[in-house]
Amino acid sequence: MSVLTQTRPLDHVADFPAIPAGWAYLDTAATAQKPQEVIDAITRAYDTDYATVHRGVYQRSADMTLAYEAARRKVAKFLNAGSENEIVFVRGATEGINLVAHCWAGTQLKAGDRILLSQLEHHSNIVPWQMVAERIGAQIDVLPLTADHRIDLDAMAAMITPQHKLVALGHVSNVLGSVLDGRRAADIAHSVGAKILLDGCQSVPRMTVDVAALDCDFYVFSGHKLYGPTGIGVLWAKPALLEAMPPYQGGGAMIDKVSFAGTTYAPPPGRFEAGTPHIVGVLGLAAGIDYVTRIGLERIHAHETALVKLTRDALSQFNSLTLFGPEDSAGIVSFSIAGVHPHDIGTILDEAKVAVRAGHHCAQPLMETLGVDATARASFGVYNSAADVEALVRGIERVTRIFG
Ligand SMILES: Cc1ncc(COP(=O)(O)O)c(C=O)c1O
Repeated sequence: MSVLTQTRPLDHVADFPAIPAGWAYLDTAATAQKPQEVIDAITRAYDTDYATVHRGVYQRSADMTLAYEAARRKVAKFLNAGSENEIVFVRGATEGINLVAHCWAGTQLKAGDRILLSQLEHHSNIVPWQMVAERIGAQIDVLPLTADHRIDLDAMAAMITPQHKLVALGHVSNVLGSVLDGRRAADIAHSVGAKILLDGCQSVPRMTVDVAALDCDFYVFSGHKLYGPTGIGVLWAKPALLEAMPPYQGGGAMIDKVSFAGTTYAPPPGRFEAGTPHIVGVLGLAAGIDYVTRIGLERIHAHETALVKLTRDALSQFNSLTLFGPEDSAGIVSFSIAGVHPHDIGTILDEAKVAVRAGHHCAQPLMETLGVDATARASFGVYNSAADVEALVRGIERVTRIFG
């Protein structure tokens, strides 16, 4: 257990009222627990501060509008975007990807064009592309993984052609923790004139993300994995792309002028935010960003990297256990045990007060590539410590005893 004593461990579990003493919550890749200050921000927004945004002429609504738009600026700064007008609030990464599939790919691609994905994508970064490809008559190609389970960018350089108009890749795999070299992927995509979308669900909670340095075209993430609430997420896109995209949904707030003779639309980002927005979700997301920013994403990354090393070192002692993903995976460790279904691993660990995810993790094509139906997955956050890893390892010892 020396790695964590060498690094300065984070100890933020006390910030999280939903984590009782002795419970090892190792499912942050599914959703992060909420620190008290995020809960307080949500309570305040529904309580003393509550009002609608953008429309009210009274003071409370004007204040709420200021807070809502300040949150948009905070997200822009968090991603190093050029302007808050590049930030579209959506329900989550899933909606962000569907929006791009519908409004960008659905209008820019034609029959015979190609879309490039990878073997490790979450279903959210597969199915929307399949739906649009089927509608248009476009084709999907799939990048293989390297032997250590990263998206193979050498293969990408060899496979990509001018027919490829869009590349959509996970910045960090939700199963393997593999970190993509996003800048290299963007350079390869741009070398044939393709646009690139990065799915940042698993990267924003555990590393600094700079969309300018990445030079990607679209970036999406979900608030609930960033210690914020569910039902809120972000789509960032280069301004010229947003400008050229038609609306996603019609309704209030996304218009310039409505008449039966014809309706004109608001400029981005309002054009993509039809209806009363998730005001409280946006304020909760801003509180989540404040929370991780104050701790420091570099420190969070270093902490989770140390926990991953500790976990991988300890689990590799079990002969019957297979570890997936690269050594330097970010915050996530997937594994299987010969002859034991991952659901049984999860159930026995639950009895030991260790919460892991077991299943296909919304990545069935990846399971096929790995040659398994499912894996068990431990994933870390700012509240985890070496004690949680010890509890996991004790639980795995019990699993191997029970199953012989
Ligand atoms: C890599 C990745 N992409 C996309 C998603 C979808 O996120 P959401 O369900 O919040 O829209 C997830 C959530 O598990 C994820 O881990």
